[in-house]
Amino acid sequence: LDARRPILAGNWKLNPKSRDEALALLNGLSPSPSDVDVLIFPPLPYLGDVLKALPAGVQVGAQTCSNYEEGAFTGEVAPSMLASMNVGYVLLGHSERRTLFGETDSDINARVLTCLKEPNLKVVLCVGETLDEYEAGLLNSIVDTQTRKGLSGVSAQDLINGRVVIAYEPVWAIGTGLTATPEQAQNAHTVIRNTLAAMYPSTAVAESVRIQYGGSVKPESIADLMSQPDIDGALVGGASLDAASFNAIVGGA
Ligand code: G3P
Repeated sequence: LDARRPILAGNWKLNPKSRDEALALLNGLSPSPSDVDVLIFPPLPYLGDVLKALPAGVQVGAQTCSNYEEGAFTGEVAPSMLASMNVGYVLLGHSERRTLFGETDSDINARVLTCLKEPNLKVVLCVGETLDEYEAGLLNSIVDTQTRKGLSGVSAQDLINGRVVIAYEPVWAIGTGLTATPEQAQNAHTVIRNTLAAMYPSTAVAESVRIQYGGSVKPESIADLMSQPDIDGALVGGASLDAASFNAIVGGA
């Protein structure tokens, strides 16, 4: 098996507030180094302009999508529409979607399966425990359950082909300045790999799926995180809104 290729992603969330600011942020990004995947998740309205002005090698994803394919679903955006725009990834199951917008594991699974019907779309599936769950010792069971339910019905071949990336984002570390220690993140990534090994008889699945860490990643913390054997990249929120910081995170990985 090939080594897992590092994947560094910036999730812009509901930022910045205007197209001009979005393009200024984009203009500050460095081209992607050839040995890593660099990916940004801008807000949907900016996708068309962002795709025209992308730094070399940088890829684009959407922050969510519909579980419906087409029809009378006002306000929704279908995976086929994204794929036809040359959007390569969809972020699914982010904790903000789960907690603020009520997405359940089964909603998220429906989106995952709909996206994977599009041959050129890949999915970043987020999982992670809240602070209460962490303190109650529930990390393993929450991460295991979210991984199993999120991936229900996904074929081993799609996973071996790299069509799903998992992002471990402990909710207590998102936007709080509290980063999981490299050891805490490594431990959670091991839980996810064990779940994959239990779900799929082929050992190639657990060995090939890339797992990113997300939660207050900064230029200062990336190298230690990446030095862990099961951390294959990062999903960056706040620090991705500053081009120099995001470039430094990509460089530091
Ligand atoms: O998806 C990335 C994210 O939730 C982490 O955000 O601001 O803690 O880097 P932040």
